[in-house]
Amino acid sequence: MGHPSQRCWKGCSRQTVDDMHDRYEKIPVQVYPEAGEAARRVAAAIAGLIRSRQEEGRDAVLGLATGSTPIPVYRELIRLHHEKGLSFCNVTTFNLDEYSGLDTNHPESYTRFMREQLFDHVDIGEGRTNIPNASGDSAEELENKCAAYEQKIRDAGGIDIQLLGIGRSGHIGFNEPGSPVTSRTRVVTLDRITRLDASADFQGFHNVPRTAVTMGVGTILEADKVFLLAWGKGKADVVRIAAEEPESEVVSASFLQRHSNAEFVLDKAAAGDLTRLRYPWLVDSISWTRRMKRRAISWASGKTEKPILKLVDDDYNESGLGDLIVEGENSYSLNIATFNDFQHTITGWPGGKPDANEETRPEKSTPHPKHAVIFSAEPQDALVGMGATINRLKEQGHHVTLVALTSGNLRVRDQEALKLIRCLKTLGQSEQVSHQLGDHVERLQVSHAEAALNPEVRKLKSAILRAEVVDSASALGVDEEALQFLNLPFYESGRFRQFHVTDADHEAVAKLLEMLNPNLVFVSGSVADPMSPQGIAFQLVAAAIRKFPITADHIWCYRHREEALKPYEIDMSVPISPLQHELKGNALQRLRAVVDLRNEESLNDDRSVAAAYDELGLAEYEAMEVFQRVKVEKL
Ligand code: GLP
Repeated sequence: MGHPSQRCWKGCSRQTVDDMHDRYEKIPVQVYPEAGEAARRVAAAIAGLIRSRQEEGRDAVLGLATGSTPIPVYRELIRLHHEKGLSFCNVTTFNLDEYSGLDTNHPESYTRFMREQLFDHVDIGEGRTNIPNASGDSAEELENKCAAYEQKIRDAGGIDIQLLGIGRSGHIGFNEPGSPVTSRTRVVTLDRITRLDASADFQGFHNVPRTAVTMGVGTILEADKVFLLAWGKGKADVVRIAAEEPESEVVSASFLQRHSNAEFVLDKAAAGDLTRLRYPWLVDSISWTRRMKRRAISWASGKTEKPILKLVDDDYNESGLGDLIVEGENSYSLNIATFNDFQHTITGWPGGKPDANEETRPEKSTPHPKHAVIFSAEPQDALVGMGATINRLKEQGHHVTLVALTSGNLRVRDQEALKLIRCLKTLGQSEQVSHQLGDHVERLQVSHAEAALNPEVRKLKSAILRAEVVDSASALGVDEEALQFLNLPFYESGRFRQFHVTDADHEAVAKLLEMLNPNLVFVSGSVADPMSPQGIAFQLVAAAIRKFPITADHIWCYRHREEALKPYEIDMSVPISPLQHELKGNALQRLRAVVDLRNEESLNDDRSVAAAYDELGLAEYEAMEVFQRVKVEKL
C-alpha cells in the first residue's frame, strides 16, 4: 500500500480500484454535519460514564488525547462541569503520549496542553492525571518508566473510554507506520509527516522533537471503548484507509478494526473519502444529480484512463454505472453532457464576462465592475490560493479588497525577527524595540518556544509579514490601500491547534463586511479542519454573511494547502498562462518570512489541477486556480 499522502486525486491507487466493492467500512463510523455536534455526543458518553460510576461509588478511567481534535470535547466537558455540575472527583486519566525532551512548561508539551485545555478547568484530583514521561538518562531508565506506566493503567483497572485523534501518517497516539499491533508504551521515532505537520507549532521542522513516548497499539486496544475522532478534509484520505482497507502496520489506526467496541466519529469533511460518500453508486442505488454524474463519470474516466469523450457503454457498465445508461441515455450523450459541464467551469473571467451569455458561466456578468472581497485566514493564503485570479480581477476592472483576518505572526520565522532587530541596531534605532522585547531577543536566538508567543515578538513578526504581503500583493497589481489587516484577537491570544473564538472576533468580521458590502466574495477553508485558522476564518465569514447578507447568492472558496479539489468538486477553474504563473511565482517569492511556505509546491499544485483537466480530455493549460461555489443559503 502506498503512503496515504502519495495517492492520486482519484483517491484510490489504480491497483486497488477493482476490488473497491470489498472495501467498505470495517468499523462502525458515525458521521456528523459538523465537529461541534460530534464532540457533544462524545462528551455526553464520557459524562454518562463518569456519573454512572459515581452512583456506583467507583472510579472512571479515561484515556486522553492531545492535538486540536479533542479540544471541542474538552470544551464541552468543561461546560458540563460549570453548567451541569459534572464532577471529575472520581476520574483518573492516562494520556496517550508526550514529546521527548520538552520541559512540562514548554508551550508544546502535552502536559501543559492538558492543564490548559482541561485539567485546570475541572475538579480532577491532583495525582489522578497521568502523562507518559519521555525524559530519562538511559534507555533502561526509559524502559522502566514505560513499563511502570503500563502497570499503573492496569492498577487503575484499565481504561474505560479511550479518546483518539489520527495523524496524517495514520498514527494513533504516536504509533507511527510500522508499529506492531502488540506494541506497548515505548519510545518511538516520529515520522517525517508527523514532524512536518507539527513544524508550524514548533516554528520550523528542525525544532520538532525527533522522538516521543507513546502508549502502544496493544495498550490502546485494551480499552473498553474507543472513540477515534477526526475533523476536516485533511484527514479524509487516512480515515478511509483506516476504516476500509485491511488492517496493516502502515496505518496503525486500522488495527481498531479488531476492537469490538471502537467507533470512528467524523465530521462530513473527514468522512468525505469513504466509499459510501465518495462513490455512493457503488454502495446503493442513488438518484442521479448532475453533480453526481460529473463525479461518477470523471471517476470512470480516471479508472479506465480514457478521456471522457472516449468512454463507451462497456466502460460505464464495468465501472458500476450501468444504471446511468439504463435511464434512457447512452454513453455518447452522457459523455458530451459531462464534458460540457466540465468545460463550463473554465473561465478567464472570474468576476463574470461583461455582455456575455451568462447561462453557462460560473459567475454572473452583472454588475460590472464588481466589488470583490477576498478573505485570507492568514495574510498569505489568498496570494497562494488565488494570486493569478486576483491579478485577473484587477485587470478586468473590478474593485478588489484583500482582507487578512489574522496577523499570521505564528507563521513568521524567528530569524526574520532577529534580522529586523539587527537592521535596526545597525541604523542605531534598536533601543525601543530591544527594550520592549527584553530577554526575548536571546530567546529568539535559540528558537525558544516561549519567545514566539510573547506579544511584543508577535507584534514585530506581524509587521514583517504585513510588509511582505503588501509587497507580494503589489506584484499582482494590488495597491496597499486595497489591503485590510484585521488582526483578529482569537489568533493573537492563541496558538496553533488551540485557538478560542470569542464575540470580539465575530463582531470585527461582521462590522467589516457591513462596511465593505461586497457583491463577490472569496474565502478559503470551507472544508478545513474547523480548529485551524482557515476553518475558523470560514466560520467567521459565514456567520458575518448570515448577519449582513451580501448581494450575491453564492461565495467562492479557493483551494488551501492540503485541500486540493478533485475536478468534480470544482465549480470554477481559472486558467493560468505560463506568463501569469511566472507573475504569481514572483509574488510568492516575496513571502520569505513564512515558515514552510513551499512556493514550488503551491505552483505545482496549480499545474496538477490543470493536468487533471487535461487527463479528462479537456483543454491543456499550464496551470489553473480552482474554486468551489457555496450557496449563501447553505452558510
Ligand atoms: C499528534 C498527537 C496525536 C494526534 C495527532 C493529530 O501527533 N500525538 O495523538 O491525534 O497529533 O493532531 P490534530 O488533532 O491536531 O490533528
